Amino acid sequence: ARIEKDGHKHFMAKEIAEQPTAIDRALANYLAQDNSIVLPEALDFSQIERLTLVACGTGYYSCLVAKYWFEQIARMPVEVDVASEFRYREPPISADTLAVFVSQSGETADTLAALRYTEGKAKQIAGLVNVPESSIARESDIVLPIKAGPEISVASTKAFTCQLTVLLLMALKAAEVRGHALPENVLEDMRALPGLVHQAIAAENSIQAMARDLAGARDVIFLGRGALYPIALEGALKLKELSYIHAEGYASGELKHGPIALIDETVPVVVMAPRDALFEKTVSNMQEVMARGGKVILVTDAEGAKMAGDGVHATIVLPALPDVLAPILYAVPAQQIAYYTAIAKGTDVDQPRNLAKSVTVE
Ligand code: G6P
Repeated sequence: ARIEKDGHKHFMAKEIAEQPTAIDRALANYLAQDNSIVLPEALDFSQIERLTLVACGTGYYSCLVAKYWFEQIARMPVEVDVASEFRYREPPISADTLAVFVSQSGETADTLAALRYTEGKAKQIAGLVNVPESSIARESDIVLPIKAGPEISVASTKAFTCQLTVLLLMALKAAEVRGHALPENVLEDMRALPGLVHQAIAAENSIQAMARDLAGARDVIFLGRGALYPIALEGALKLKELSYIHAEGYASGELKHGPIALIDETVPVVVMAPRDALFEKTVSNMQEVMARGGKVILVTDAEGAKMAGDGVHATIVLPALPDVLAPILYAVPAQQIAYYTAIAKGTDVDQPRNLAKSVTVE
């Protein structure tokens, strides 16, 4: 059947809007009624000591978030790499490694080549894909479909949040199998994600207004800490892909090691910061930006908005949620900022120049 836009102006808007349903489908596929996590039986985390996560583009940022989860919750060491670097570096792969290849299409040439490099070296190869009949799925020992449904827009949206959902369930399963406590109520809280993502999508009015401002910028900086750092990277990637505005993502703590030199009144700084244990450090980063005339756009929750105080140029308020789930929710404004800035600039949202949905050549 032909996939239509269902009344949306672009596939990207449709796919952003589909995220609550897509995440729900991913959860239903791996989380049983009794809240037990059901992964393919062949995947036995008691036999695995380390993970190597490999992907390209947006999938790479899923892997970077997953590193925080696997390390913090399951206490397993994780290496993450972009596929095009991974195989040429010829990294040693120990026999107790689970190699995970994350790919929406399952056809990205570099990711497939990286997978082949790990054959006969890693203990197991898992493919986390949206297209279950893809090459990466076929060549993996274990296939983990992310259940996002067909994604048409070149910029990946619902595949990203579904990748994150499945990777978090994997990390939680690994923790359980290895005898580490799960964050309190995390599985119940995960069931609330579709509803929270729905609420986040509804915050689009404040983003639309702010995007008209961003459309005039030449450079934009995105900041985030911890597992929100990869979301800052994703926000910057999306903005440059869709609106052709130069954007860079940085770990908030790295601000003073470089990007602060760029700050003046023409460089907006988007700060992805739920009110978590490190929020006060982020507030001081924002003050450094504002002291140099920089315009801070803060994406946070109600409490964070209150604590941030005066001087913030614009605030996008999301529902509060447990820290572990924040990267999934904060992906939504990262997508919408890029979407509405592209609309304000009049660029081709679904088919950005020079980009392809799936890169099947090296
Ligand atoms: C291209 C697409 C991106 C995607 C990347 C990896 O660059 O434009 O949206 O994240 O490929 O694709 P994959 O299908 O392997 O996830």
